[in-house]
Amino acid sequence: MKDLRQRAPAVERNHAPIVEVLRRVLPERGLALEIASGSGEHAIHFARAFPQLVFLPSDPDEKARYSIAAWIGVSNLPNVLAPIALDAAAAFWPVEKADAIICINMTHISPWVATEGLFKGAARLLASGAPLYLYGPFKRDGAHTAESNQAFDEWLHANNPQWGVRDLELVIDCAATNGFSGPEIVEMPANNLSLLFGRRAVPGVA
Ligand SMILES: C[S@@+](CC[C@H](N)C(=O)[O-])C[C@H]1O[C@@H](n2cnc3c(N)ncnc32)[C@H](O)[C@@H]1O
Repeated sequence: MKDLRQRAPAVERNHAPIVEVLRRVLPERGLALEIASGSGEHAIHFARAFPQLVFLPSDPDEKARYSIAAWIGVSNLPNVLAPIALDAAAAFWPVEKADAIICINMTHISPWVATEGLFKGAARLLASGAPLYLYGPFKRDGAHTAESNQAFDEWLHANNPQWGVRDLELVIDCAATNGFSGPEIVEMPANNLSLLFGRRAVPGVA
């Protein structure tokens, strides 16, 4: 049978530092929804690192979902669910509630509406205080933080004019508008950032 597993080389480099940051913010138990799971390798690493949580991977791309399902198939882990089709930009997400949301390397490689949709959707699903974790390259004060990020940004634009390394300040504004506090910013290897947002309390809602 054909092996449908995709491999993203960056995952081997970034999964351990990401797990280290997630250890500080993920809840003890519950459902962690991953947006833009891609190959699915992160979901497997996370499920192994946090056996008390259940992980729900998602991606709008069918081939990615085949890959995620294939990784789940060989991983033999009880705490990672079958991937769902989820477009962050959509007004409706096929999941009602989550205890944490994780989104790695999506904001720059999707149109801006996906980032807006990510915060809107996360606000619908998360209870007050629940974490929203973002990872990726970001510009700070309008400038790239490394020449390699600038070259990557140019490559992104050439591939799709709607893609691009986002301004951290714009992302934070969008988060605040949609009811998120923070972020705590953690510098990560290879000029990436972890952004740790928290769902703000909504008056009258638990
Ligand atoms: C660079 S990959 C990152 C995959 C994985 N998170 C990782 O770090 O290896 C970007 C992913 O974003 C997904 N994506 C693009 N647009 C999206 C959207 N509107 N909503 C959710 N995911 C999206 C793509 O299908 C792709 O799997």
